[in-house]
Amino acid sequence: MSAAGLFLTFEGIDGSGKSTQARRLADTLRAEGRDVVLTREPGGSPGAEEIRALVLQGEPDRWSAETEILLFTAARRDHLERTIQPALAAGKLVISDRFADSTRMYQGLARNRAPGDLRRLVDTLHDLMIGIEPDLTVLIDIDPVTGLSRALSRRTVEERFEGFGCDFLAQMRAGFLELAAAAPDRFVTVPGDDTPDRVAEAVRAALTQRLPHG
Ligand code: TYD
Repeated sequence: MSAAGLFLTFEGIDGSGKSTQARRLADTLRAEGRDVVLTREPGGSPGAEEIRALVLQGEPDRWSAETEILLFTAARRDHLERTIQPALAAGKLVISDRFADSTRMYQGLARNRAPGDLRRLVDTLHDLMIGIEPDLTVLIDIDPVTGLSRALSRRTVEERFEGFGCDFLAQMRAGFLELAAAAPDRFVTVPGDDTPDRVAEAVRAALTQRLPHG
């Protein structure tokens, strides 16, 4: 748990619209007078943004699954030290577009491996090097076919992970829902297959009971 501020993350499969929703929630909460830091992973600090380019660009088999886990965790550690912890210590509300749950899913369910194979490694490294969970996580839940078509329609240079097929995305969607079911105090699940405006309203409404006043 954070000492003073509040740490909120957005999670979901590619094309779920969580980046848009993270930005919209940040705008809404700022308009309500809260001091919000909007950040993202991989990245969120100068060093971690450099690691982002390493992990998201290039050939799909550029890194082994284990090396990927180390790189994402290294980026997260820098992000935590330089951006998240100082903001929380200053009493701010930190909103991160992805955090450790993404590694639990994307690397923990590694391609071409038995399901869950690397999950223990992800969790062990998280305990050793990161050690905190968000206070709240908004899971934007979407059908993988919708997510895939959205993700493919805006292809960028950062596409190492976007060649996933529907089966893997479906597995990941189920994995995110399992994480949410296992930690109901931390997670809020919001359906993402609606207009951005309506999803944004649903996110804000879902957080009403969960956000401390002020
Ligand atoms: P992101 O910029 O959130 O992409 P999108 O907006 O398309 O969801 O994340 C980039 C990619 O990095 C995304 O495909 C998920 C992947 N990723 C991991 O594989 N592991 C991680 O720990 C994180 C944070 C992201």
